[in-house]
Amino acid sequence: MSLKCAIQLGIPDAIHNHGQPITLQELVSKLNIHPKKTSCVHRLMRLLVHSGFFAKTIVHENQEKEKEEEAYTLTPSSMLILKDNATSLSPFVFTMLDPALVSSWQFLGDWFQGSELTSFEKARGKGFWEYCNQSPEYNNILNEGMASDSRLMSLVIKDYQPIFEGLGSLVDVGGGTGTVARIISKAFPHMKCTVFDLPHVVANLPDSENLKFVGGDMFQYIPPADAILFKLILHDWSDEECVNILKNCKEAIAKKGKEGKVIIIDVVINQENDEHDVTTTKLLFDALMMALVTGKERNQKEWEKLFLEAGFSHYKIVSSFGMRSIIEIYP
Ligand SMILES: C[S@@+](CC[C@H](N)C(=O)[O-])C[C@H]1O[C@@H](n2cnc3c(N)ncnc32)[C@H](O)[C@@H]1O
Repeated sequence: MSLKCAIQLGIPDAIHNHGQPITLQELVSKLNIHPKKTSCVHRLMRLLVHSGFFAKTIVHENQEKEKEEEAYTLTPSSMLILKDNATSLSPFVFTMLDPALVSSWQFLGDWFQGSELTSFEKARGKGFWEYCNQSPEYNNILNEGMASDSRLMSLVIKDYQPIFEGLGSLVDVGGGTGTVARIISKAFPHMKCTVFDLPHVVANLPDSENLKFVGGDMFQYIPPADAILFKLILHDWSDEECVNILKNCKEAIAKKGKEGKVIIIDVVINQENDEHDVTTTKLLFDALMMALVTGKERNQKEWEKLFLEAGFSHYKIVSSFGMRSIIEIYP
């Protein structure tokens, strides 16, 4: 919440635009702070420096270097939330910390004791996806947040060329407003890409030559293609639901005559090998899945069980970075 507050106040951009370490007084002068609350900026910054979002350095007030003063700088984390940065993650922060999501956490204990399917339902009286459908405002916030996360793919797509090489067509299931598919279709212009998502998400999005949008429900049907991509989709769903989705995938990649593959970009819990912070993030996301939807984060064994149950014969974890892994599964 302090991070969201810092973004709201424009603190990362104020530090960035200053072009050099910024003192507390200089920072306050650039923000729109009520005069009675200026001293609280120091407390907010103290916490965010402690957690690594900003850093502190010493500057000299005058040329004679007599008086030293503390000043703030950005860190790699806060560079990722600059508003004008093409790969800014600040929309993701607003998605995750929207009151609609945060309120679900208040009901986790009640959810454990009650019969509701999700804690979100306990808080809002309806499921998360239904809420997104009925609240255009939150639907936009979710789509923008996911798109900001997906824009980071542009930084790594070239490193993963072998995954996409030789594919004539790809369907990005639950592909939102098409950020990932656009990046892939730009990098591999010969490939026909389809974004498949719920009708209210893809309504009115314009098709282009090698990118089209199709509305539908992945539990009913998935359009045929050489490859089906799921980025941060299966962790939203229970084991039973995932097996149903994957069975539809198996049909979709068989319809093209040759046997294709499924590409999954998602979380794989790996407590033995991951750094402590990475595991913390993965476990917090697991708790988020518990609070919002019917999904969960899985370790390799749990993923493998889903693939085999859905009728796939083998899989490989192609790569793991940060909290994401890329898994390929084959019929
Ligand atoms: C967490 S978002 C991931 C979006 C995108 N893959 C990304 O990583 O940026 C989950 C997406 O699944 C979509 N979705 C939920 N239920 C679906 C269904 N039954 N059929 C198709 N898409 C669905 C949502 O609309 C949403 O766009």
